[in-house]
Amino acid sequence: MVAKSKPVEKLTEDEARSELDRLAEEIAEHDRRYHGEDAPAISDAAYDALRKRNGAIEERFPKLVLADSPSRRVGAPVSEKFEKVRHALPMLSLDNAFSDADVRDFAARVRRFLKMEVDAELALTAEPKIDGLSLSLRYEKGRLVTAATRGDGRVGENVTVNSRTIDTIPVELTGEVPDIVEVRGEVYMRHEDFAALNERQAEAGKTVFANPRNAAAGSLRQLDSSITASRPLAFFAYAWGELSERPHDTQSGMVTWLQSIGFSTNPLMERFLDLDDLIAHYHWIEENRATLGYDIDGVVYKVDDLHLQERLGFVSRSPRWAIAHKFPAEKAVTELLAIDIQVGRTGAHTPVARLKPVTVGGVVVTNATLHNPDEIERLGVQIGDTVQVQRAGDVIPQILGVVDEKRPSTAEPYAFPSHCVCDLQTPLVRETTAGGVEGVVRRCTGEFACPYQRREHLKHLVGRKGFDIDGLGDKQIDWFYEHEDENLRIREPADIFTLQKRQADSAALTKLKNFDGWGETSVRNLFDAIEARRTVPLDRVIFSLGIRHVGETTSRTLARAYSSWKSFEQAAERLATGDEAAKAEMEALDDIGGAVTEAVARYFSEDKNCAMVDRLIEELTVEEAEAPAASDSPVAGQTIVFTGSLERMSRDEAKAMAERLGAKAAGSVSKKTDLVVAGPGAGSKLKKAEEFGIEVISEDEWFERVGQGA
Ligand code: IVH
Repeated sequence: MVAKSKPVEKLTEDEARSELDRLAEEIAEHDRRYHGEDAPAISDAAYDALRKRNGAIEERFPKLVLADSPSRRVGAPVSEKFEKVRHALPMLSLDNAFSDADVRDFAARVRRFLKMEVDAELALTAEPKIDGLSLSLRYEKGRLVTAATRGDGRVGENVTVNSRTIDTIPVELTGEVPDIVEVRGEVYMRHEDFAALNERQAEAGKTVFANPRNAAAGSLRQLDSSITASRPLAFFAYAWGELSERPHDTQSGMVTWLQSIGFSTNPLMERFLDLDDLIAHYHWIEENRATLGYDIDGVVYKVDDLHLQERLGFVSRSPRWAIAHKFPAEKAVTELLAIDIQVGRTGAHTPVARLKPVTVGGVVVTNATLHNPDEIERLGVQIGDTVQVQRAGDVIPQILGVVDEKRPSTAEPYAFPSHCVCDLQTPLVRETTAGGVEGVVRRCTGEFACPYQRREHLKHLVGRKGFDIDGLGDKQIDWFYEHEDENLRIREPADIFTLQKRQADSAALTKLKNFDGWGETSVRNLFDAIEARRTVPLDRVIFSLGIRHVGETTSRTLARAYSSWKSFEQAAERLATGDEAAKAEMEALDDIGGAVTEAVARYFSEDKNCAMVDRLIEELTVEEAEAPAASDSPVAGQTIVFTGSLERMSRDEAKAMAERLGAKAAGSVSKKTDLVVAGPGAGSKLKKAEEFGIEVISEDEWFERVGQGA
């Protein structure tokens, strides 16, 4: 141990190392006493001296600076932008329930999936859904090493330095903890802190925040961490990611543990065995929400038993074992100024109400969706009317109805256009379903010929789930799309990737950097971001094409099944020529049905689309999709069909289990099937399996094979 008084310039490297360790711990302890317990143990001057000594040693031995050094807790150097961090386990979202009945359905669904009796005991936890932004904190050997935002759930932003400035985020965990602990929760701002912050902002002539959540997000995502440090942020822990060891077997046990290692957890979390009690707790929280001092937007229910959570698993991005019961939307009354038409990526013409600005639940609302012409008719709304609007969470506000007695004599009925609002004026059509039922949406069939649709396609393509190009958002696409100069115009996907080349040949006047809003650095950043995306995973390419019914999950399924662009394209082209085998093959994939194959066929039967796609692919290096989880389970890579009645698990659980083990669960038996698991009553599928000579096993044998016998 080095005497505290040894002058910094006399310390050896080893001494400096242990001294920095000791100082970090000591300063953290004082911080905890000062901020957490409001009971400082030393004078401010003594505290400052500790920090000063820490800083002096770091200056002499820069390479010894600890990741969690006290000097990094505030005012660390400004970085250009946040680094990306891949989450060890994805950060999920939650499915929503909007009524008590939805909650009962959820419980019934859980029981059904687990093959439990309808009245079997099922413990659920209930806790407020905090309206902030989620954060994942990674601790190694008890020390905070990374803090990352949710991002797209797989990759988030590294906000470690900023997170260290939040008092309720411990830099070091308390007590004996597993080597790797990832804690997840919500960063939020209390109402009184939010009000005070906005007051300070207004006084300083800076922007005021619309609501506490925006303020929290804006404060955490600051490039200068001293700004974050000056903002009153707080953190509630409610979940976890990777753990090298899991100390408890229940949700409630884990939350209590999170508290014991130094986190704030929400005091309103409770465990229930009775659904009526759980729902009563929801209504109690709803009635008292205004007194909590922070925003919540619902109550989250989770299956308490973690073994059951594991069996339940996930659908797409949401766990089957949890649901968010949202509070009803907030309402207000205002005036309808006009109705505009918005043309979407699929040509849908959506009427949008322009409203006199009104505050609904703390947010200023100026637009509301009217969905379609039938909705305008149903509401009987006219321009100039006073209308009731409602806003629920992040959803676009809606118009609930007209206040009839306030209709002015000047009110004007609205006539919905019969032709596309673009220059081509293509007639709008109403789609009919297979059963001949007329749809409500009016669509322009112009597709890529329609400038509005092309533009929306481009926005979709560069969006977060598509190519995710930094600095190329909706605003920029509009700008490039409309640009007069050919060398600056982006009218189709490939144009994005030829932009830099076209720019290089361009005269000085039409160089991007010479336009308003652009500069040397932002242009370089944009080109770098585009270049970075030239190599892109197959599922993102498929998603980005904007084929109807081909969303994120379907794109991933297709990418995994066809693995390379070439084989996907071949399948799509065969589909387009009406090849039945190609159709059957694609429809045998999980969750893919006629709507998808039809849409893919339609897309690829348009020569213009094919040419456009070819031009795009020419610019790219498409990464092959990962083969289904290279797990070392005995069924990894196999295609399995479950048939007959299963006794130990539901059909859905069986499918989910196979997928977890790296296998594919198919709906029908074909020559590609590797294994059939047959329960009592299996019929035609079993027969087919026998014909093809495919191995057939019982449900019990299945459990033995995958090593979950007992
Ligand atoms: S649990 C796997 N619990 O809500 C489930 N989420 O809509 C992980 N949120 O991204 C989330 N309060 O940011 C959970 N008590 C709570 C929550 C909560 C707020 C947020 C979280 C999540 C979002 C999903």
